[in-house]
Amino acid sequence: MAHDMSGEELRRYREDRGMNQQELVSWLNERLGRRYDRAKISRWETGAERIPQTVASALKDATSPVGIPAASSQRNAPLVLCAANQKGGVGKTTTCVNVAWLLSRQGQRVLLVDCDPQANATVHLGVDPHEREVAKETLTHALRSSRPMREFVTPVCDGAFDLLPSSISLAAADRELLRQPNGTLILRAKLAQLAGHYDFVILDCPPHLGELTVSVLNAADQLLIPTQTEMLSLMGIPQLFETIAGVRELVNPRLRILGILPTMFSPRRLQDEQILTELHAMATSESLRLFSPVRRAADYTKSVLAGRPGLAMNPNSAGAESYQEIAEALLVLGRAEMNHGA
Ligand SMILES: Nc1ncnc2c1ncn2[C@@H]1O[C@H](COP(=O)(O)OP(=O)(O)O)[C@@H](O)[C@H]1O
Ligand SMILES: [Mg+2]
Repeated sequence: MAHDMSGEELRRYREDRGMNQQELVSWLNERLGRRYDRAKISRWETGAERIPQTVASALKDATSPVGIPAASSQRNAPLVLCAANQKGGVGKTTTCVNVAWLLSRQGQRVLLVDCDPQANATVHLGVDPHEREVAKETLTHALRSSRPMREFVTPVCDGAFDLLPSSISLAAADRELLRQPNGTLILRAKLAQLAGHYDFVILDCPPHLGELTVSVLNAADQLLIPTQTEMLSLMGIPQLFETIAGVRELVNPRLRILGILPTMFSPRRLQDEQILTELHAMATSESLRLFSPVRRAADYTKSVLAGRPGLAMNPNSAGAESYQEIAEALLVLGRAEMNHGA
């Protein structure tokens, strides 16, 4: 099909998808086997050169991934954070729950999406996954439905923030729905509906690199990597870096790594200190931020039983400063986005 495209249209198309000129040119060159450069995009956008038919057609006929806007490309879009690490028990859920709580304390409108079929975040926030499953109000139902995403959320912590709960049926969605062509873009498309309703969306990942985690990485702006200060947790990180590189190249060039968060750290254990030194070296060589380690503290396990974030029960728990550092980093990014969009 033949298409004409003006420079202004091209610029809007690119910005709506949250791509910079370099990202757009890489995408085009890969699809069309060309060697355009960034300056070429500039000339097209300013109208100095006509946009070739093949380029206009490639863009307008694209169904995905460039055809699906990132959540963050909308006006008033929330900033989307995810916590991922294919290792289980490294503190992903604890981090999501406590960061959501701290952001809400700062007056931010926050949605936590539980993307793990084990529904740990859901339980941690005092919501019964089975009840939600019966009521058909879980992430699985939201992904399958044409109804707006917001109809599936529930307020938690006395209304401090919202939760989109998970339940075991998400495991089946992972196997069927998300493995369809472009299935790992459904979450991203759904989150794009939330513009104007939340300042931050936090996605809690399952402990493996399957379709659910890829869906999350396709949808997120910022990735936080919690890792326990022990050898096995550390070993998964290079594999995660590879997955992220693939996601950035093919689907979501906006994805950035916010940093690495060492968790369950015991300063008296020699092994923990050694791992922390290794993490420091890894962060330096990858130019990543290493957040202050969260110390091991019984408060966090107790808070799961109470169905509340640890920091809601005891704001001075060990690790409060680390989680505060993360919330601050997000607030700074959120403000930068607002100024950029204004
Ligand atoms: N700083 C901490 N100190 C002690 N226990 C913790 C700490 N952070 C998390 N935990 C506990 O460790 C377990 C695993 O944490 P969780 O956040 O569920 O990890 P993941 O989501 O990566 O599987 C949970 O029982 C949680 O309560
Ligand atoms: Mg978890």
